Amino acid sequence: MLIRRETPADVEAIHKVTEAAFAARPGGEAWLVGELRADAGWIPALSLVAEVDGEVVGHVVCTRGTVDGAPALGLGPLSVLPAKQRTGVGKALMHTVLGAADALGEPLVVLLGDPAYYSRFGFRLASEYGITPPVADWAPYFQVRTLTAYTPALTGPFRYAAPFDRL
Ligand SMILES: CC(C)(COP(=O)(O)OP(=O)(O)OC[C@H]1O[C@@H](n2cnc3c(N)ncnc32)[C@H](O)[C@@H]1OP(=O)(O)O)[C@@H](O)C(=O)NCCC(=O)NCCS
Repeated sequence: MLIRRETPADVEAIHKVTEAAFAARPGGEAWLVGELRADAGWIPALSLVAEVDGEVVGHVVCTRGTVDGAPALGLGPLSVLPAKQRTGVGKALMHTVLGAADALGEPLVVLLGDPAYYSRFGFRLASEYGITPPVADWAPYFQVRTLTAYTPALTGPFRYAAPFDRL
């Protein structure tokens, strides 16, 4: 498996992988990736694909968000082709994107997801850090992974890149 930055040639494959991973919610996440790519919050260095035998089987992206106006990252969507799930693709994408974000000097990454899965990557409930989700009901799933540049002064409401508000 290779993990690398997306290129223009990957855009269609990423769309298909995202649609397949989120088949239960057709349109939403695949549409979101396209909207994010056109948004000011897009960070090319943090849109990564997983490739197996020349085929894109997974994708992850972090985009620019803010904590009380200060720069931070929102992670998602994270997608793995159903046929390739539970083979370590999600794990490889997650470790790589967190390492890349840390190398870029970002302070933290937030995501919405199941703590049973994401705690293994160092995510903890955002409430432990005084960071609140855009929607209060998300609190049980809203998690933060701090990075080297994190300081405890970074507290307050998190805002995702604008396209998330249109999801
Ligand atoms: C969630 C997802 C990205 C994980 O990727 P993956 O490549 O299947 O994950 P890995 O192979 O690295 O890890 C698999 C492990 O994670 C666990 N896991 C996956 N999703 C989980 C969840 N929601 N809750 C708890 N554990 C979960 C599996 O049980 C497995 O653990 P095991 O090896 O002990 O059995 C993938 O299943 C997916 O694309 N799902 C649909 C889209 C989605 O929900 N994306 C995340 C929200 S943005």
